Formats: sequence, C-alpha cells, structure tokens
Amino acid sequence: MKPNYETFKFKIVDLFQDELAIYFDTVDYAKHLTENSEELNELYYLRHRIETIKRIRMTAALDALALSKMLSTNYEAARKWAKYTLQEMNHDKMFMGDLKRHGLNEEQVDGVQPMLATAQKGKFLEDKILNWSPLAAVAYSLFVEWNSDQYSEKTVERAEEKYTVSHVKGSRAHVNFDIHEDHLEIMFGVAHDLLTSEQHFEELLEVCKSISSMFRDYFQELYQSTIVEEKRLFAA
Ligand SMILES: [Fe+2]
Repeated sequence: MKPNYETFKFKIVDLFQDELAIYFDTVDYAKHLTENSEELNELYYLRHRIETIKRIRMTAALDALALSKMLSTNYEAARKWAKYTLQEMNHDKMFMGDLKRHGLNEEQVDGVQPMLATAQKGKFLEDKILNWSPLAAVAYSLFVEWNSDQYSEKTVERAEEKYTVSHVKGSRAHVNFDIHEDHLEIMFGVAHDLLTSEQHFEELLEVCKSISSMFRDYFQELYQSTIVEEKRLFAA
C-alpha cells in the first residue's frame, strides 16, 4: 500500500529540507542568490539564468517522454502532467526576456554549452523515466517547484535591488505564475497519483536524493566556472 497523501507530502518535504541543509553545508557560494550579505555577482547570476533556460528546454523533452509513458498507465495523471509541462515549456521566454535586458541575445545563449551537471542530470532522468517510472520526471519538477517556492522570490529581489525592476520582469512573472497556478501542489498531486506502493515510494525518495545531489553538483560547477574563474582571470 502507498502512503496517504499527507504522509507522502510530509516525508517529501522532510527529505527536501534535509537536502537543503546539505546543500548549504557543502556547496561554495550556496547562499549567494538568496542572502544579502554580499553584492550579487553579475557573472554568477547571469550564468545561472542562462542555465535555467537550458534546463527548461532540456526538461521539456524529458517531460514529453514521461508523458508518453504516463498516458498508457494513468491517463488522468497524464492529463494534469501535460497541462503543467505545456506551461513550463514556455517559461524559457520569461528568463530570456530578462537576459535580453542585460544585453544578451538568443544566439549568445544558444552558444553557451550546458554545464556538465545539467547534462548528467538529463541522462540520469532519461534512464529513470525509461527504465523505472515517469515518476522520475515528476520528482524533478517537485524538487524544482519546492525549492523555487522557498527561494526564487529572494533571488528576484536581490537582482532587482542590484539592477532595475525591468531586469527581473520575466523572473518575477515566473514566480507569480507558479504561485497563481499552484504548481507545487499540482506536482504533489501528480506524484501521489502515480505512486503504486510503499516500495515505489522508497524508490521515489532515492530518486529525489539523486536529483538533489546533482543540483549540488550544478551549483558547485557554477561557482567554479564563474567566481573561481573570474578571480583567476583578474589575478593573472
Ligand atoms: Fe512552475
């Protein structure tokens, strides 16, 4: 038997909170996007926004893969998932609008190679969707929506303080969209609908941990390729 909805939610949130504590303990610059202790680093911030676009576009393909699997096993969950993923696949435009305000164009963003950690996450999710369950794609969205719910607004505020309101028009619209559409709750619902057993739930928790670990890898890579690299260049 699978856990009831409240227990399921409680355990997922508990895991995400533990994972967040590990993130803050182990990743360099972990608080940079959300805490006001130092000025926002432009390179770090913009590179993160570029990667957000890369991730949204990569995820759109994985979400479609998950949808095709879900349609044959749980049509009602697939219906909700399809609506959600259709909304998500347009969100790259919001972040692209902000980057344009910073003087970057589509070609420049397309020309940036995705981070290694993002590519690895894509491979991991593809394998899990194909060989385990489409729930892997939902786990990813659940993780992203929960963390976004905790921290995205603070990042927008920080960037708005450094730049202007118009520089964060897209990312602010994104935060408001998630709240208005209640994306987090929808993801909890779809994930619970797809769960089949206690064992399946234990596996889901492991998948969530792996996703979280790959996000830590991403933020460490972001730090290395911007802050560390910037210091090295200026020291040279
Ligand atoms: Fe969302």
